Amino acid sequence: MPILLSEQRVIQSAEDVVGVRQMVRQRAVELGFNLVDQTKIVTAASELARNTLQHGGGGVVTIEGLEEGARRGLRLTFEDRGPGIVDLDLAMRDGYTTGGGLGLGLSGAKRLSNEFHIESKAGEGTRVTIVRWR
Ligand SMILES: Nc1ncnc2c1ncn2[C@@H]1O[C@H](COP(=O)(O)OP(=O)(O)OP(=O)(O)O)[C@@H](O)[C@H]1O
Ligand SMILES: [Mg+2]
Repeated sequence: MPILLSEQRVIQSAEDVVGVRQMVRQRAVELGFNLVDQTKIVTAASELARNTLQHGGGGVVTIEGLEEGARRGLRLTFEDRGPGIVDLDLAMRDGYTTGGGLGLGLSGAKRLSNEFHIESKAGEGTRVTIVRWR
């Protein structure tokens, strides 16, 4: 599957989270996403970027534009080398939080995406990949 663009952004601060939101919005517009789909991928990106910062201790996001025939997509990969997640099923559950949040970030990001993949190993870090198609 051809990749139209690929860029990386460091997530180390709240300002970086805002920057990731803006960049994802801009790329979604460029790929022809309508307003509803833009907002879905931006909201998912915002939740995952916050998790990378708050739970992962910072990390990197890779933003890729995808081309598959006529359709266009955005793939976002969030990676950190934080503490990792011991029980992924539990972490994915609505309302589960270890940090006093609402516990809706991961489950919300999954609902807002067409594809969702999470890998994590305790003590090594976490990688979350989402794709939203136009
Ligand atoms: N990158 C990460 N590294 C380590 N743990 C994580 C990471 N992302 C999520 N988690 C764990 O999964 C839990 C659920 O995450 P989720 O985003 O759903 O909720 P939350 O961040 O606690 O609250 P919020 O609703 O504000 O997002 C977190 O409380 C945390 O324990
Ligand atoms: Mg969260």
